[in-house]
Amino acid sequence: MIFGRIKPLDAILATAEKKSLTRSLGAVQLTLLGVGAIIGTGIFVLTSEAAQKAGPGMMWAFVIAAVVCGVAALCYSEIASMVPVSGSAYTYTYAVMGELLAWMVGWALILEYAVAASAVSVGWSGYFVGLLHSWGVEFPHVLAVGPYAGGIVNLPALLIALLVTLLLMIGTTESARVNAVLVAIKVTALTVFIGLTLPVMQGANFEPFMPNGWFGNGHGAGLGAVGAAASIFFAYVGFDAVSTAAEETKNPQRNVPIGLIGSLAICTVFYLLVAAGAIGALGAQPVTGPAGEILAPGTQALAQQCQAIASVATEPLVCSREALAHVLRSIGYERLGDLIGVAAFLALPSVILIMLFGQTRIFFVMARDGLLPEKLAAIHPKWKTPHIVTMITGVAVSFFAAFLPVGQLADISNSGTLFAFFMVALAVLILRRTQPDRPRPFRTPLVWVVAPLAILGTLGLYFNLPFEAKMVLPVWGGIGLVVYFLYGYRKSHVGLGHVEVHEDDPDAPPQPVPPIGDAHTPGGKDA
Ligand code: ALA
Repeated sequence: MIFGRIKPLDAILATAEKKSLTRSLGAVQLTLLGVGAIIGTGIFVLTSEAAQKAGPGMMWAFVIAAVVCGVAALCYSEIASMVPVSGSAYTYTYAVMGELLAWMVGWALILEYAVAASAVSVGWSGYFVGLLHSWGVEFPHVLAVGPYAGGIVNLPALLIALLVTLLLMIGTTESARVNAVLVAIKVTALTVFIGLTLPVMQGANFEPFMPNGWFGNGHGAGLGAVGAAASIFFAYVGFDAVSTAAEETKNPQRNVPIGLIGSLAICTVFYLLVAAGAIGALGAQPVTGPAGEILAPGTQALAQQCQAIASVATEPLVCSREALAHVLRSIGYERLGDLIGVAAFLALPSVILIMLFGQTRIFFVMARDGLLPEKLAAIHPKWKTPHIVTMITGVAVSFFAAFLPVGQLADISNSGTLFAFFMVALAVLILRRTQPDRPRPFRTPLVWVVAPLAILGTLGLYFNLPFEAKMVLPVWGGIGLVVYFLYGYRKSHVGLGHVEVHEDDPDAPPQPVPPIGDAHTPGGKDA
């Protein structure tokens, strides 16, 4: 009975106790950690995609996505504080719903983390090429975008993904100080943007407010304000980093929710102000096709329309690959636009690093459980990193970054993330029923309202993703099932009767949290 293959919570917890990381983090550090992982390609790049889907109504998209993330974050906090070990949603599911579903969650997390790393790489490429352009260097178009926009390969995206992979392989992690500096850069960039755009807002730019309505061409087409919410959800992803740091947190009952909700709230406020500034200063109406039809972002048809418009007028927001820098340049702040570009150029690689890091550690835990070949989890003798799995992941991430558009990558990543959040919310409810007395350092408030809201919210956003992104999850899941029955089902350690937990093995690499202090970086060098 595969559903009966449960990794006992007590075995997992016994290990976590042995690890005894110092509880050193306070609310402020946790919040910084969250903001560092959250602000990235979503706001810097996907703002233009959200505008193409919803027009000024993208303001609603930011609100809807924030609410879904908020309720999901509260569920994450409870289970992360109960099961404070590596592997994130994969480990929680293993303990609560058994091996098969855990495998499916781990498999979906590949979409979340690896594909997100690809998306952020493509986002970075847009800013890099834009910066070169404003400094008078033309990067060949065919090498700057994939075939979806008339190019051959997105070379900068490919190279940045490979570079970050290399850094991770040799054991680079990000120190608290580097994270704090990058957060300061990102927050300053967004503040400057807001400060310059809000005073020149024009009310007329908000009309019509919802050109594509709530659902665009009809429910589930991935357009309109709700379709934009399903995509812009990507801008909030990353807060799970806070929940996985629960075991290093002083007074987690108080500080984990402050860190999670605090970082989400801060980002929401910034995002809404940035969106309002961009709409008000430049306008955010979608570009339509020759017959007035709605065009989906990332398509050749849209790229052609954009080219036609750019030759006679200011490039609309929805056409830009470096949305925020473009807005500032268009309203006369050329140099400050460039500085926003520099901020994105410096800060986005750290988001790639966090995502890739999380991915390799999840693979690592799955391999150690016997569900993937254990060779993958081999630790490099000198670098002390799971170099094989890091390299394989990095090559795949680079490949997707080279050939797919940022919006589609973000949507695909969202489909995996939404599935993982859905399972976590379900697991919290199941554990409340099956193990009501187990200690919960953090309890989700109003859990019978909050968790069902998270379940409905994740489902609702999933069904409003564009068709292709929606289809990726079941197809990817189907492949996952085949892999499981061909390999993991027979090799699983739990299936074979070994209930070992490897968390405290001396050669285990750092956990899937951007390391914060020395306690967290055994074998890692600070970047
Ligand atoms: N939230 C992260 C970003 O927007 C993944 O880049």
